[in-house]
Amino acid sequence: MAEHVEIMISEEDVDKRIKEIGEQITRDYAGKQVHLICVLKGGSFFLCELAKRIDLPVSLDFMSVSSYGGDTKSSGVVKIVKDLDESIKDKDVLIVEDIVDSGRTLSYLLQMMQDRKPASLKLCTLLDKPSRRVTDVKVDYTGFEIPDEFVVGYGLDYDQRYRNLPYIGVVKFD
Ligand code: IMP
Ligand code: MG
Repeated sequence: MAEHVEIMISEEDVDKRIKEIGEQITRDYAGKQVHLICVLKGGSFFLCELAKRIDLPVSLDFMSVSSYGGDTKSSGVVKIVKDLDESIKDKDVLIVEDIVDSGRTLSYLLQMMQDRKPASLKLCTLLDKPSRRVTDVKVDYTGFEIPDEFVVGYGLDYDQRYRNLPYIGVVKFD
């Protein structure tokens, strides 16, 4: 089936918003080191751009998760495919995600991270689809709230493609 991508949020608007969030984080964490945790793969493009806009000492770590299929998916249990390299105990941790949809992945991850006793734990997402939420998740920094549409670009994929688009787009089937 042929498809094309329509722009929802332009490259210019995404870059401008990431700069603003970086400045806000710089103010909020003044005097501290921020430990950014990227959830692979989707969060990676946002993480790189955001980290460049934070004018503080920054350290990075990465984790990769996948949802268990079938019945267990609705329980929100996610499988850790790659865990963090370093301990987060006593660190000021900021999780960087591409999108919060149902909220299941993040609510599980936040609980797991909290159990590891960081000094603080916050969540930053480029996109939020609040209308899709089934689990309550407190988001501290949001790039854009978007309607219930399947989006790609800036790290987000459709069947592993389109992650490299420099804007947020919607896949349309011709
Ligand atoms: P959750 O439903 O909040 O647990 O979201 C789980 C994951 O689904 C996100 O981290 C994304 O990887 C993926 N996802 C959700 N909505 C979209 C979308 O519109 N485009 C691409 N991936 C999405
Ligand atoms: Mg993701």
